[in-house]
Amino acid sequence: QTGYVSLDPAFVNTASTKSAITFLDGEKGILRYRGIPIEVLGEKSTFVETSYLLIYGKLPNRVELSKFSTLLTRHSLIHEDMKRFFDGYPSTAHPMAILSAMVLSLSSFYPEAIDVNNHEQIDITIARLLSKVRTIAAFSYKKSIGQPFAYPQNSLSYCGNFLNMMFSVPAEPYEIDEDIVKVLNLLLILHADHEQNCSTSTVRLVGSARTNLFASIAAGICALWGPLHGGANQEVVEMLEAIHADGGDVQKFVKLAKDKTSNFRLMGFGHRVYKNYDPRARLISSAAEKILTKLGINDPLLEIAKRLEEAALKDPYFVDRRLYPNVDFYSGIIYRAIGFPSNMFTVLFALGRLPGWIAHWKEMMEDPSTKIGRPRQIYTGEVERAYTPLDERA
Ligand code: SDX
Repeated sequence: QTGYVSLDPAFVNTASTKSAITFLDGEKGILRYRGIPIEVLGEKSTFVETSYLLIYGKLPNRVELSKFSTLLTRHSLIHEDMKRFFDGYPSTAHPMAILSAMVLSLSSFYPEAIDVNNHEQIDITIARLLSKVRTIAAFSYKKSIGQPFAYPQNSLSYCGNFLNMMFSVPAEPYEIDEDIVKVLNLLLILHADHEQNCSTSTVRLVGSARTNLFASIAAGICALWGPLHGGANQEVVEMLEAIHADGGDVQKFVKLAKDKTSNFRLMGFGHRVYKNYDPRARLISSAAEKILTKLGINDPLLEIAKRLEEAALKDPYFVDRRLYPNVDFYSGIIYRAIGFPSNMFTVLFALGRLPGWIAHWKEMMEDPSTKIGRPRQIYTGEVERAYTPLDERA
């Protein structure tokens, strides 16, 4: 059948579901969205076009792309009543907490987000989500730094609009740098889907109860926040900053990561599926070199990351366990260079992963045979026993 690399029973038995969206070969370091290699999409596509590919299963023609882009432009505002939600949050609220709550609240403003067979309605719902999450993300950043919200501008591209909402201030417009727009498109494309990872499986499992799209995505955002999943990109930069502050001795941290008595891990290293170099990390690493050079930024963290990777990949502990840099290892260095604070890195991961989550929710709603079944367990508790009255208990 198309798309199967192997029907090896050992593999098929571990599969939690079937899907036609993303093909991932962890041994060979292959990642394709609807059959197209990420290396090609990263070079030739945009995040909006790749989102269409993942959600609708094909690259859009000119008319389809224009219609999709227009929907995204037209649905970028959030309801003014929703804007007031931000007033209730402390400035210390993590943007991921705000994002998950606000996405869930979208279901109160657009209760119809469920019927995948009503194509016109679900297309608008999908566009609303893709566009409004970008606005909510930018507003949550502005809230955290006490700056006024910058509204979406219909004349700007998806990524240009996001950058403008993030960084423009009333006193000074934000000058959009096309190199930055290009690298942000690349990063969002590389994060757009990744098969049955923790957050995508969460979206599918929650959606399998016929939960509406917004609530299913809100659950995925919470799962992504975990430091072993999407939260790792923030942890990587904090780890690199700690190494830098400690004098840059990477061997010391490699040694610590091997010490089982320490709970320190090399963040951004290792993967549940890739037992080879994560193809996304390779693309992000070279993009980091290019954009920092273009912007004339000499970030010591990039040099430390390179030395840390080199030291780990020479160490038998990492080689024997097939631990390589993953998607999170270099992404934060680019986000820093653009001006994002580290508490926005996982929000950026969520923004990128959104089309993948939507595609998986839609696939499962359209084809219930792709539902993740109800997980079962091996019971390890007590055998049946009597109820002991309170006064007779030890
Ligand atoms: C993402 O699933 C996806 O596709 C996720 C993702 C996506 O796009 O959605 O790719 C995004 O989540 C990437 C991963 C981001 N997380 C991190 O970078 C956190 C650091 N990495 C790990 O904690 C770990 O590598 C995992 C969780 C990512 C993967 O864990 P595994 O494959 O289940 O490996 P394991 O935890 O069973 O560890 C195997 C061995 C253990 O040692 P031993 O018991 O054999 O002695 O490897 C060691 C672990 O201690 N190990 C590490 C390590 N990762 C694993 N040791 C030091 N540093 C690390 N980073």
